[in-house]
Amino acid sequence: MNLASMNLSTGDLSGENVMQTVRTLGDMKGLYADEAARAGMPQDTVLYRTFWAEGEPEGTEGALLYGTTVLEPGLVGDEFFMTRGHFHALRNRAEFCLTISGEGALILMDEQRRTRMERMTPGSLHVAPGHTAHRVANTGSGPLTFLVVWPADCGHDYEEIEKNGFSRRLRNINGVPQLV
Ligand code: NI
Repeated sequence: MNLASMNLSTGDLSGENVMQTVRTLGDMKGLYADEAARAGMPQDTVLYRTFWAEGEPEGTEGALLYGTTVLEPGLVGDEFFMTRGHFHALRNRAEFCLTISGEGALILMDEQRRTRMERMTPGSLHVAPGHTAHRVANTGSGPLTFLVVWPADCGHDYEEIEKNGFSRRLRNINGVPQLV
């Protein structure tokens, strides 16, 4: 029996143990440079939906967990819609990512706060190495969907990013996505 099935057009996962988490603009307070712009938009605007399958319990050493994310297109001020971003609580844990559809960027920042990005296009494969914070931004005009696989024991440290952010942001500069 397979674990779950992915709709390759929409990124949706379906199956017995599939759960869905929804993040709205209202959940992203303080994460965009232009907080006034974010606060002025409808707070129930859906930014992204994450589908994940309940498998091995979180924290199980050696186990893998996986999920898909559907990130909507849009801007807060001149900053592309993006996920919150995190380090792994166990800093040496890496993560794998496959772009299914859409256009975007995987934004990576190491512990010296050096930030770079990898372009995401359908079929592109990426690794967020250990000791590296990661977030995804949608630079396209349609939804960006991707599959992520992570170690079940990695844990998620969102607080560090909520507090100090990434050192650079992905902005729409005259129609061109640029890390600023
Ligand atoms: Ni991660």
